[in-house]
Amino acid sequence: MLRSALLNVMIAAARKAARSLTRDFGEVEHLQVSLKGPGNFVSAADHRAEKILREELAKARPGYGFLGEEGGRHEGTDKTHTWVVDPLDGTTNFLHGIPQFCVSIGLEREGTVIAGVIYNPVADELFTGERGKGAFLNDQRLRVAARRQLSDAVFACGLPHRGRGDLALFRKEFEVVQDKVAGLRRFGSAALDLAWVAAGRVDGYWERNLSPWDMAAGILLVREAGGFVSDLSGGDAMFGAGSIVAGNEAMHHQLVGLLTGI
Ligand code: IPD
Ligand code: CA
Ligand code: CA
Repeated sequence: MLRSALLNVMIAAARKAARSLTRDFGEVEHLQVSLKGPGNFVSAADHRAEKILREELAKARPGYGFLGEEGGRHEGTDKTHTWVVDPLDGTTNFLHGIPQFCVSIGLEREGTVIAGVIYNPVADELFTGERGKGAFLNDQRLRVAARRQLSDAVFACGLPHRGRGDLALFRKEFEVVQDKVAGLRRFGSAALDLAWVAAGRVDGYWERNLSPWDMAAGILLVREAGGFVSDLSGGDAMFGAGSIVAGNEAMHHQLVGLLTGI
């Protein structure tokens, strides 16, 4: 499959960071049995992966800015382009030896995400997309699912966890949505949740309290797969609001309706 130079740069960086994560994931399984647990080790794994991404992306595009979960924002000489990177999305899964995590790289140009790569190394699933050029899983073109009825839909969601998010509000959302759909899932990686919407595996997804690096690449993938993405009130301020709703046009519309009606 012929890919652009830009995507090749992003894919090479994602694969290199993922090799480091995969080695560390093997270690994590041994650490489960130690009393101290793998917490510090995982945080080191996360930092190692982000360092690799920063170095690899800077080598290929020296002037671009960089926004990473671990190291924060670094301005570049090129003020129009910024990498928006989560070196390890799905940390809790990783920490528990659950093979649902990924590297996520988005590229923003003047505030719009123009390319995205999400790589799950355990499944060897590489999700890629560029603005106007479609979204792919490995070599296969992606389309969001076609279901239109909520009663047929399976949605992914996030769950607020200890010390984070509004649990009472989520419980209301859960109640309202659960009542209407065929199933709800909580997979534990926002980037993969969005990639899975793009791939038509789930019909929709919503979550609050996210950061730009959780969403950047995934937003691009969903849109390029023909889907709709907004913040929870239906607007375009996903990064500002930290919330997201995604799905095909009908599912997105109905899900926003349910959530704003609470
Ligand atoms: C988390 C995951 C998770 C979502 C959390 C995120 P992390 O990112 O995407 O699915 O529910 O809100 O913070 O911490 O694993 O990079
Ligand atoms: Ca994340
Ligand atoms: Ca992370």
